[in-house]
Amino acid sequence: MANLERAPRQILITGGAGFIGANFVHHWCTAYPGDRVVVLDALTYAGNRNNLAGLEGANLRFVEGDICDRALVDSLLQAESIDTLAHFAAESHVDRSILGPGAFVQTNVVGTFTLLEAFRQHWNNAGQPAASRFHHVSTDEVYGSLEADDPGFSETTPYAPNSPYSASKAGSDHLVRAYYHTYGMPTLLTNCSNNYGPYHFPEKLIPLSCINILMGKPLPIYGDGQNIRDWLYVGDHCSALDAVIHRGTPGETYNIGGNNEVKNIDLVQMLCELMNELAPELPVRPAQNLITYVKDRAGHDRRYAIDATKISTELGWTPAETVEGGLRRTVEWYLTHRDWWQPLLSEEYQAYYREVYA
Ligand code: NAD
Ligand code: TYD
Repeated sequence: MANLERAPRQILITGGAGFIGANFVHHWCTAYPGDRVVVLDALTYAGNRNNLAGLEGANLRFVEGDICDRALVDSLLQAESIDTLAHFAAESHVDRSILGPGAFVQTNVVGTFTLLEAFRQHWNNAGQPAASRFHHVSTDEVYGSLEADDPGFSETTPYAPNSPYSASKAGSDHLVRAYYHTYGMPTLLTNCSNNYGPYHFPEKLIPLSCINILMGKPLPIYGDGQNIRDWLYVGDHCSALDAVIHRGTPGETYNIGGNNEVKNIDLVQMLCELMNELAPELPVRPAQNLITYVKDRAGHDRRYAIDATKISTELGWTPAETVEGGLRRTVEWYLTHRDWWQPLLSEEYQAYYREVYA
């Protein structure tokens, strides 16, 4: 929420060339044009500098680098007088964590630890300014899997991560919590549900389905397709993060959800319907003919759902987008941004695809 009386911030955004990070950079630069924004991103397969096209300039600096590089992080915090750190950088895809968990431990655990240590030193050197914030962006997957009738995850749900991805995020969450309790560092932690919207890398379910429909390729549904996710439009996620950074209480956790629980098969059916309506020249019509059930993901969590009562009652945030409206916006974006996603279907991407769906 924009506040005209707020003091300008110097914000370091890690992972700002990725999906949610880039949406957040766009949000922040639009809402707070007087702020200094520094993006630190290693430009892994998931990072794309084009996501920030049109933003780089006087108030936005992009730095290509690794969050595990302590000397680099130290120099940025100091040279840019950073008072706010929004930490998105991560290895983020469950399927890749099954193929190769090492990178997840390195970036998600060691990288977060590196940032925490660097920020602690910087915050101490600056005399522990009251306005400083270290915001860690995490996932609902740390809470494990729900049965059909279970209530949604709340901030007090015990952690029970089931994949190397969620276990590495859980490890980073525990470190963040410890830095508040041990050192009094002003940390904030958010755990959110599945995001979707513009700049989503093609390998995730929603962009993958949009792109495969346009190319007439099979739509792979893991297992029986009855797994449930709580879908959150990325713009709603950004407004929630903004509320937490400005008005959240240090040391607290806030769960962020879209209030949109949908079974995977129903979600893909909705995408097919939208594509049938909005894309005039589909290679296969109706797109539903492409739906193909494939071998289930190892350890596939059955259901995620978020109880977002805390952020709603304490900070006044609720999601604005319905899943119907958000999916329509997303499909329209993929239809009008083929120049964004076509170059991402690289040989490296094809090799990954063959390995997962073989
Ligand atoms: P993403 O994979 O699209 O982007 C990750 C970004 O981090 C990329 O730009 C990548 O280049 C960068 N990065 C990776 N390793 C790095 C390193 N060592 N140093 C610097 N940069 C590095 O991820 P996303 O979907 O945008 O997710 C952002 C954050 O939100 C992650 O922490 C993720 O765990 C969390 N999250 C995502 C979702 C979701 O649905 N996508 C849901 C809940 C939480
Ligand atoms: P994904 O977008 O990978 O997010 P996450 O695993 O973090 O929830 O997947 C969303 C859901 O869609 C998840 O239940 C796995 C399922 N899925 C498929 O059925 N087929 C696919 O090809 C992909 C990528 C995911």
